[in-house]
Amino acid sequence: MRTIYLNGNYIPETEGKVSVFDRGFLFSDSVYEVVSVLDGKLVDFGGHVQRLARSLTEIGINGAPGADDWLAICRELVARNHVEEGMIYWQVTRGTPEDRDFVFPPADTPPTVLAFTQSRTLADNPVALRGLRVVTMPDLRWGRADIKTTQLLYASMMKNEAMARGADDAWMERNGWITEGSAQNAHIITHEGVLVTHPLTCEILHGITRASVLPLVAQRIEERPFSVHEAEQAAEAFVSSASGFVMPVVQINGHIIGNGQPGSATVQLRHAYIDWARRTAR
Ligand code: PDD
Repeated sequence: MRTIYLNGNYIPETEGKVSVFDRGFLFSDSVYEVVSVLDGKLVDFGGHVQRLARSLTEIGINGAPGADDWLAICRELVARNHVEEGMIYWQVTRGTPEDRDFVFPPADTPPTVLAFTQSRTLADNPVALRGLRVVTMPDLRWGRADIKTTQLLYASMMKNEAMARGADDAWMERNGWITEGSAQNAHIITHEGVLVTHPLTCEILHGITRASVLPLVAQRIEERPFSVHEAEQAAEAFVSSASGFVMPVVQINGHIIGNGQPGSATVQLRHAYIDWARRTAR
């Protein structure tokens, strides 16, 4: 049985209790992070701590653990759960007021703070060898996709819809322009050898993996929206995320990308990122 962290305590997962009045439960009034673990160490820890702080500031939740606390919590959970490879989820809600109310509770209401681990094979994920088939769907999420909230219902619906259509995942589009994947940033490489990736606006999550991958890219980079049509005709395509690293995309809406196998630049980038992640994990 896993040990989880909840509000200052390390406890068995079955003993974690959160109030039915918790705003995370009633309003999805909460933010989260996903940090991957390689060789028992945390990948891109600094980036994730910074983004969590930004998400908390944007929605005005106070009193969450700071960077040193998160590092200690993560290391403790990794040790107690013997995680060699996998993920750690951090979740912070606006806490538990006495009643359900749309009005935020007093600013000094203690947040609910949860962290748990999931062991999983990441570096040798067999999906990376075959690549993903994605289908595009309208991006009907709220307009602040840059805040990493736990309002994940739409993304979850889109992923399930994609799978029902025989694909692996969904890429979302607004007015014909790809924003991002259900839980990944989306990127293409054109036949001219240019890597195109959506700019950091409110329409996408500012991926920590994206930020660490781009400096490793050998190609020219253009940060601009790309259309569904441009993606379907691309030479290569891939997604980036903390849990998938760099993951090739080989089909978009049934259009075969390249020769239908993971593109060579994408495969190179995946290796470069995993090498970098292992070297810098802490
Ligand atoms: N998802 N875009 C969305 C909508 C995401 O949910 C994620 C991460 C990303 C990639 O961000 P990062 O590189 O910082 O992981 C982009 C995580 C992995 C999840 O919810 O499981």
